[in-house]
Amino acid sequence: MISKEKEYFEIINNIYLKVIEEENLGETANYIPELSKIDGEKFGVSLLFTDQLQFGFGDCEEKFSIQSISKVLLLALVYRETGEKIWERVDVEPSGTPFNSLLQLETDKGIPRNPFINSGALVVCDILIGICDNPKAYFLNFIKKVSGNYSIQYSDKIAKSEFSTAYRNTALTNFIKSLGNIHNSPEDVLDLYVYICSIEMSCMELSKTFSFLANKGKNLFDDYQVLNISQTKRINAIMQTCGFYDESGEFAFRVGLPGKSGVGGGIVAIMPKYYIVSVWSPKLNLKGNSYRGMKFLEEFTTATEDSIF
Ligand code: DON
Repeated sequence: MISKEKEYFEIINNIYLKVIEEENLGETANYIPELSKIDGEKFGVSLLFTDQLQFGFGDCEEKFSIQSISKVLLLALVYRETGEKIWERVDVEPSGTPFNSLLQLETDKGIPRNPFINSGALVVCDILIGICDNPKAYFLNFIKKVSGNYSIQYSDKIAKSEFSTAYRNTALTNFIKSLGNIHNSPEDVLDLYVYICSIEMSCMELSKTFSFLANKGKNLFDDYQVLNISQTKRINAIMQTCGFYDESGEFAFRVGLPGKSGVGGGIVAIMPKYYIVSVWSPKLNLKGNSYRGMKFLEEFTTATEDSIF
């Protein structure tokens, strides 16, 4: 092992052991019944360098529900297919509101503030329905290609569980439809949305899947150009400003990398040109972001002195 790799291995190992000893605050997502059953003590980490060296710690091979992390992949696919036209339907401003808020839609005339809050992802799902025949298969095939992993799947159980209590997302979809920014049936849009959120991956898989965002839009493993350089910069920028909802400022302040969280307890963060780091710990703070995940990443970038700033 050359020194940089040894150094990172030791830093992660030490922080992992330290964080696992500390109090594990928060709750697993309780509004999606299946997610509330997940063991809150699970803790996995994976670091993938752009030279393809990859480390994994703890529960890094165990699949979990990536939830809102999927919204980045959804955006990548639809941005790739439609180009800049997408921004006529969804904005790129931080909302400063919780991920499932209805608040700004009325004054913003149905244009969601950004593609990572639920309203924004619902509109992007609507666009996807409009550009292909079988959007679930189209999305899954895209993820398989991007991850280089043909075993990636949706979880029918998680999707059905979310659907059974999707009162706010139903309200959001109908509200946006009434404002003219959902073109297909609200039921179809919501059905696609919950499936997209139900994708399962391990930390090791997540880091590989997001490698294009650290590598100028190109997959690390097969050089597949997922997005062009400008699109890649823009998605990283939206992750930086909107990836953690009303905690995006806090994540930038504490961690200093573009990232995206999900209520399954996963977080992926990108150090452009250098690495992709994924963390999974299911207990969430009050903003719906992984408590240990945030803590781990803060200590990691503090110890390595890595930041985009
Ligand atoms: O729509 C929902 O509520 C979930 N499927 C996704 C929310 C989510 O992951 C928010 N992220 N921290």
